[in-house]
Amino acid sequence: MTLAHLVSIDEHTREDLVEILDSARSFDELLQRPLRKVPALRGKTIVNMFFENSTRTRLSFELAAKRLSADTVNFSASSSSTSKGETFIDTARNIEAMKADLIIVRHEYAGAADLLRRVCSSAVVNAGDGMHQHPTQALLDAYTLLDHFGRPAIDGLTGLTVAIIGDIAHSRVARSNIGCLTKLGATVRVAGPRTMLPADVESLGALPFPDVDSALDGVDAVMMLRIQKERLPAGRMASDSDYRNRFGLSVERAARLKEGACILHPGPINRGVELAPEVADSAQALVLDQVEHGVAVRMAVLYLLLSHRAEGEP
Ligand code: CP
Repeated sequence: MTLAHLVSIDEHTREDLVEILDSARSFDELLQRPLRKVPALRGKTIVNMFFENSTRTRLSFELAAKRLSADTVNFSASSSSTSKGETFIDTARNIEAMKADLIIVRHEYAGAADLLRRVCSSAVVNAGDGMHQHPTQALLDAYTLLDHFGRPAIDGLTGLTVAIIGDIAHSRVARSNIGCLTKLGATVRVAGPRTMLPADVESLGALPFPDVDSALDGVDAVMMLRIQKERLPAGRMASDSDYRNRFGLSVERAARLKEGACILHPGPINRGVELAPEVADSAQALVLDQVEHGVAVRMAVLYLLLSHRAEGEP
């Protein structure tokens, strides 16, 4: 790894991404064994600092740290002294004073993870900052595609086309995935409501399509995004049924995907809105594979960031 933190996919080279994905393959093999634990990070302390709700990311980071024998501590903003007015930076510095080697942070504000690495000497991993980045989600999605198409990480995703559909503008998952997938050689298309497509989507490296059906034509994989209702200004959202009809992956739309194409969703799913329940539960959908791979990918990230870091090294 060329960097001491994982804050944004944009800061990492293709070689970094391949190293993480390659290492994740070894951890995935370990996780298939009856004894799923190694002493690689014994003596290290990892803090999960979550200011926003999470199921998959928080639990899989915790499991990943435990599988590597690190000590883990969970911080939840709702039950912390932030409710008494303590600032984000003071909170982080107090946690670090307890000798945290690595802090995993999720926050509603873009830039929170970047700020944290500037004020702390611990390694920092971004578990989602506002509408900015969710790098480990992109890595686990890339890992799932490599696994599905039977490719080693070094070969990347060259020749594959992935469509990302839905609320691109408010999605940190989309932003990280466009960066990660294109660095690995895939072609990325995007489509969704016009109010949910960022003006600079082409400069991110994705090809905008005017409608979902043309975007899905001939793709190898489709990634359906959750509508980020919590980040949408009032009045920006059509009704669920209108969204489902125009932008959702219905049984009929999924039937038109080419043979062997797979369906991804980062979760949590709004069933019956962006994904029909029958599609979400079909063999084509790799949603639970993504979650499974999340543990191995996060083990790789924690291991690569911490194993070469000497005690107290900034
Ligand atoms: N995909 C994802 O980030 O899910 P959580 O919000 O449950 O962590």
